[in-house]
Amino acid sequence: MNSSVTAEVTSSRSAVAFPVDFLFGSATAAYQVEGAAAEGGRAPSVWDTFAHTPGKVHAGETGDVACDHFHRFREDVALMKRLNLKVYRFSVSWSRVMPDGVTVNPEGLKFYSDLVDELLDAGILPWLTQYHWDLPQALEDQGGWANRRTAELFADYAVVLHEALGDRVRHWTTLNEPWCAAFLGYANGHHAPGRTSPEDALAAAHHLLLGHGLAVQELRRRDPDLELGLTLNFTDYRPADPDSPGDVDAARRLDGSFNRFFAEAIFEGAYPADVLADQAGLWREGLVQSGDLEIISTPIDVLGVNFYTGELLTGVEPAQAAQAAAAARTEGEPNPNVGSEHVGSVPRGLPATSMGWEVFPQGLHDLLLRLHREYTGPAGVALYVTENGAAYPDAPDASGFVQDDDRLSYIRKHLHAVHQAMEAGADVRGYFVWSLLDNFEWAFGYDRRFGIVRVDYDTLTRTPKASANWFAQVAATGVVD
Ligand code: NOJ
Repeated sequence: MNSSVTAEVTSSRSAVAFPVDFLFGSATAAYQVEGAAAEGGRAPSVWDTFAHTPGKVHAGETGDVACDHFHRFREDVALMKRLNLKVYRFSVSWSRVMPDGVTVNPEGLKFYSDLVDELLDAGILPWLTQYHWDLPQALEDQGGWANRRTAELFADYAVVLHEALGDRVRHWTTLNEPWCAAFLGYANGHHAPGRTSPEDALAAAHHLLLGHGLAVQELRRRDPDLELGLTLNFTDYRPADPDSPGDVDAARRLDGSFNRFFAEAIFEGAYPADVLADQAGLWREGLVQSGDLEIISTPIDVLGVNFYTGELLTGVEPAQAAQAAAAARTEGEPNPNVGSEHVGSVPRGLPATSMGWEVFPQGLHDLLLRLHREYTGPAGVALYVTENGAAYPDAPDASGFVQDDDRLSYIRKHLHAVHQAMEAGADVRGYFVWSLLDNFEWAFGYDRRFGIVRVDYDTLTRTPKASANWFAQVAATGVVD
């Protein structure tokens, strides 16, 4: 994967029109919005356990209530309809539909069935994500993603969902951001289940991908016309000084462990050799079995792209890198890439969101073209931006309205970047803003607001922000000013 910069993105140019069938939508995830953590037979997931462990989440906050979407989904679907959204990307809580990870809970399935019916009645396409980080705690107790059996159970879970919803849900994402699930969850412990073993993290990454491949095979066999794929997260990594071999190597390392590791396993059926060399000694003997990479690279139809930011990197001594990583912990989502202990980040002075992430739409433009040229184009796979958006310190007026010009501008610039990439040939078919609602931002609790709709956490009232009203026009007309 080669990250050459192409045409410069210009968001100040005149209005652009997207194709009529381009899908504008929004995304959420079960643990971040549903609440009702102990209702309808749901059992705890790793995120319930983690959030209830003192010191793990900002201010001790949990997803027990979250946005109460479980009880308010009809109101939320009506809101999406008012915002002209064409598609809604939601995730299923595995521990709601199979509380112990194995036994089916019909009451849990009914919630998603009702949600899907409500969406279809409103003319909104349901886009299902099978796994957005909330593994049933019962499976974590048996080794979690570090245990190969979890991958097999994941395929059984896919079949259960398909039997209940496959007649109405045709867009299917197995995993959301396996990098986060594996490395934030098992390497640096900033996410559930909070483990800190690089070896376990690599085992988790491999088993997540294996679970994806097994699920795709099973679903394809039963339903050849399903639109199948997974969502990966990508960050634009560039060397701070392109003439410095240390900086170039730093960018290679992070691009390798964060971006290429997953893309090459999926599209080329091999983990990148340079990344494996960086991770030497951390792969457990016997972890990768013969035939695993063939399963992982089973053909898919759609690649979901989550994109938020880019980083300029520099090569540093390991001690300095450890310091930088510790400092990054209080900022946005840390990047504990296994095998990347020689890497530091250099701010490039761009405006940043409240996650500390620099706003860099050029990175999305270049990424989409790079993916199209190197992976998805040759494989005939369509691209969808399954997440893009920004947290800002919103200031509501007395009525709860937020004039979030910063978020609106972020989304607008990134849509221009998407359009420009499409003009240059990238096959992008849709864009989902993250997120529909302010919600539980993992270890940051409710402190970081990503919604285009404000949620007042005292009353659970929803109020569309300026960005939502603007995005509603975009979704209705396909035109971005
Ligand atoms: C990616 C994750 O999929 C989502 O759950 C999270 O809230 C956003 N990034 C923002 O950090």
